[in-house]
Amino acid sequence: MCGIVGYIGKREAYPILIKGLHRLEYRGYDSAGVALLDSKANLHVYKTRGKVVNLENYCKDKNVSGTIGIAHTRWATHGEPSDVNAHPHYSQSETLALIHNGIIENYLSLKQMLERKGYKFVSQTDTEVLVQFIEYIKTENKCSLYEAVHQALSQVIGAYAIGVLEKGNADTLVAARKGSPLIVGIGEAGEYFLGSDASPIVEYTKDVIYLNDEDIVEIRRGVGEIMIKNLSNVVLKPQVQKIRMDLSEIEKGGFAHFMLKEIFEQPKSLMMCMNGRVQSELQEIMLSGIRDNIEKFRNARRILISACGTSWHAALIGKYLIEYYCKIPVEVEVASEFRYRNPVIFEDDVMIAISQSGETADTLAAIELAKEKGTFIYGICNVVGSSVARATHSGTYTHAGPEIGVASTKAFTTQVAVLTMITLLLGKELGTIDRTTYKSLVRELDSIPEKIEKIVAKADEIEEMSKVFTYARNFMYLGRGYNYPVALEGALKLKEISYIHAEGYPAAEMKHGPIALVDEEMPIVVVAPKFKMYDKIVSNVEELKARKGKIIAIVSEGDKNISNIADYVIEIPNTEECLSPLLTVIPLQLLSYYIATAKGRNVDQPRNLAKSVTVE
Ligand code: AGP
Ligand code: GLU
Repeated sequence: MCGIVGYIGKREAYPILIKGLHRLEYRGYDSAGVALLDSKANLHVYKTRGKVVNLENYCKDKNVSGTIGIAHTRWATHGEPSDVNAHPHYSQSETLALIHNGIIENYLSLKQMLERKGYKFVSQTDTEVLVQFIEYIKTENKCSLYEAVHQALSQVIGAYAIGVLEKGNADTLVAARKGSPLIVGIGEAGEYFLGSDASPIVEYTKDVIYLNDEDIVEIRRGVGEIMIKNLSNVVLKPQVQKIRMDLSEIEKGGFAHFMLKEIFEQPKSLMMCMNGRVQSELQEIMLSGIRDNIEKFRNARRILISACGTSWHAALIGKYLIEYYCKIPVEVEVASEFRYRNPVIFEDDVMIAISQSGETADTLAAIELAKEKGTFIYGICNVVGSSVARATHSGTYTHAGPEIGVASTKAFTTQVAVLTMITLLLGKELGTIDRTTYKSLVRELDSIPEKIEKIVAKADEIEEMSKVFTYARNFMYLGRGYNYPVALEGALKLKEISYIHAEGYPAAEMKHGPIALVDEEMPIVVVAPKFKMYDKIVSNVEELKARKGKIIAIVSEGDKNISNIADYVIEIPNTEECLSPLLTVIPLQLLSYYIATAKGRNVDQPRNLAKSVTVE
């Protein structure tokens, strides 16, 4: 889901493309590449794993001339980061070159069809299937590049933003989008730009066309004009708009920080995470990693879940889910402790390792320790081809897209979503969840993204509330059941970006000591949606109120009890108890963000922290 740049005009394309890729680096990526048509309309593709600077070094002795080109930064979803999987991808005859952001859901069926027609593939990506499909159509129907792209996209399922070049045709650049952003910049006469956002374009022009889903655009030099049609072949009038934001803002898509952008992205990242996996019309969960290894889980003596930080909080929710619905014993271990305490590990244990970055040293060490004992290891990672992904026997990618902010948000909710999908699928396969419950939970899981939308819509209300706590010196976070790990996560979010001390506790634990801390100076966040433990939490809140604690309550919509006791209330949509962490965590992310920004903290790069802890 990373970065696209394109150019056609009177200037040399390569410098514009490379600079544009640098402008898009902030989005996180693992590879980069460029395709150019030289003055003889010969097509050149150069691409490398790693940073844009690697690509530049690789191109130092190459022919990078030409006034038309496309460039790409990849965030791998299909096929590990490698030179061959990097974009642009050639078609078989090397007459087409294509770059792509997104996921082609039906790439396998298209690939099988093309293989039956004799097409060979050199990469593991879904993207290569698309460029081969376009070539197949172009060859079969003897049609223009634009027409072949149009017909191919009419049969594609999934998300895409693409740019395509054709050998021998240095006057035409074709692009399209559906589900991934793409912008056309309009420069001086006959000069056009492409960008995943405005950052690679804004220094050349402020006149842009924000393409809409299913738009396909043909940009032709000389004619100096642009044609936009949609998948229904309806010609659309280009809506030229002015870029209003300055460069620094644009890199964050208009948000003040990546963390805020990623909090707001969670409906989309959850949809990408569940895409093709939660089949709501069939009311089924599809996870090939689990399906292919179901016997390992069926025969597991225990499931060990190892992780660090926020991923460890997700692991704790996984424990509650799997033990309740699958009746498999689960032990959750902080990886840094697990790796050194000489733990008892059985060959018939199954380990789940959770890591956003896939590079956390302690988690990798825990994996190696379990591997030595012959344990089957299943990974839940966000970075395709990362060390954890490669070290585990199988796994599920969270597909949250690059998470730039050091404080993890969308990675956490997609980790919890994957653990939920694993739980439901295991429960169904092991017969520990009845069909009615299974189908009901699958439907409800599918509705979570739109429920998160309703919560992030309250951001202004939460920002207003957070001002009261700018100078708090300590916070307490309380929750029960599935929301005890959410309390831990909320406390961590506040600690790591505002530098205010905060502790998460099981709500009932307060009377075993921590309640001594409570006075009018102590804000206490209570995660209290209306489920079976609700009445117990009401008692906990009353105990705190009696000691003048300042209560911030996260409650279910329509709550009439705690809402009348608490000092501040944030309502969340109703859902199933086991899915509630996906909703209750959102207000806590926003609360910590607004308190930290009110304190002027460096929210995206907090002091002392790194995005990936690759050292012990
Ligand atoms: C969470 O906001 C922190 N950034 C940190 O606790 C993080 O979750 C932890 O370092 C684990 O990282 P990983 O998921 O990449 O392994
Ligand atoms: N799905 C494509 C791949 O894995 C594109 C990923 C991206 O959006 O960068 O190569």
